[in-house]
Amino acid sequence: MAFSDEPISCEAAMSDICRVYELEGVQRVTGETIRPGGLALTQRALALADLPAGARALDVGCGAGATVAYLAESGLRAVGLDPSAKLLRQRDNLSPQLAFSQGRGENLPFAAGQFDALSAECCLSLMDDVAGALAEFARVLRPGGTLLLSDMLAGNPAGLTAARRLPLSCCVTRAFSRAQIASLLADAGFAITFWEDNSEALKQLTVQIIWEYGSLANFWRCSGEDGAEVGTAVAALKPGYFLLLGRKRDTKLHGEDTEHAGTAIRNTSSA
Ligand SMILES: C[S@@+](CC[C@H](N)C(=O)[O-])C[C@H]1O[C@@H](n2cnc3c(N)ncnc32)[C@H](O)[C@@H]1O
Repeated sequence: MAFSDEPISCEAAMSDICRVYELEGVQRVTGETIRPGGLALTQRALALADLPAGARALDVGCGAGATVAYLAESGLRAVGLDPSAKLLRQRDNLSPQLAFSQGRGENLPFAAGQFDALSAECCLSLMDDVAGALAEFARVLRPGGTLLLSDMLAGNPAGLTAARRLPLSCCVTRAFSRAQIASLLADAGFAITFWEDNSEALKQLTVQIIWEYGSLANFWRCSGEDGAEVGTAVAALKPGYFLLLGRKRDTKLHGEDTEHAGTAIRNTSSA
């Protein structure tokens, strides 16, 4: 499918994890983007990516579409995709020129090599098949295309086992360790060209949540969970937030990638 505004026809099979982000209380705290860092982090990623005007960009897990609007304002030909019909409907306040599609990151309704860039902001962690989704990202990007990825970081990967046992399934409980995301990206045929720890943005969001809800436990309780249990497991995880840029390799090689062996990773932190 090209850059048409597809009608939201299907109720794409969606697990409950998406519903948390549809909550009015959650969006009241996060603002127009439903994640840490807001559009300032998108702006930073775009500046680093240095995409040419008119580049074709897909925003996977676009939520209510704020990033898609921002990409378009930045001169890109942007399209957004999300499984949540409710979030996609919220784009009513955005330009009708913007293109959106309902679907899941694990099964992108786009032809191979169609995009110059793909952003996934705080949504890869929510996907049921992360490796499959990254393979899809690689498929729809042209060779050399840019991946702009930000998501939850497990500062203490040892805490992941307990977090994943929680009844609550959200981006926090499905955070990635740095080693894990690096390995997943390599397997999908991406070279990481930039890495940055943005955990400060998560701290700011946490303060906003406490301001709004009185405590983190109250926030988790409002999401329908045992606040104390979730809070303990999440704290043990030492959650953070990362931004990385990746480049789709020209050829997916098994073992060492000799073509890009000299690729330097720009790294502004060692989370
Ligand atoms: C934390 S919100 C981030 C939304 C948006 N990227 C932003 O920056 O505001 C996570 C988003 O991922 C979407 N999502 C959940 N599962 C998904 C999947 N399998 N494929 C694509 N998006 C998914 C949710 O519907 C939600 O819009």
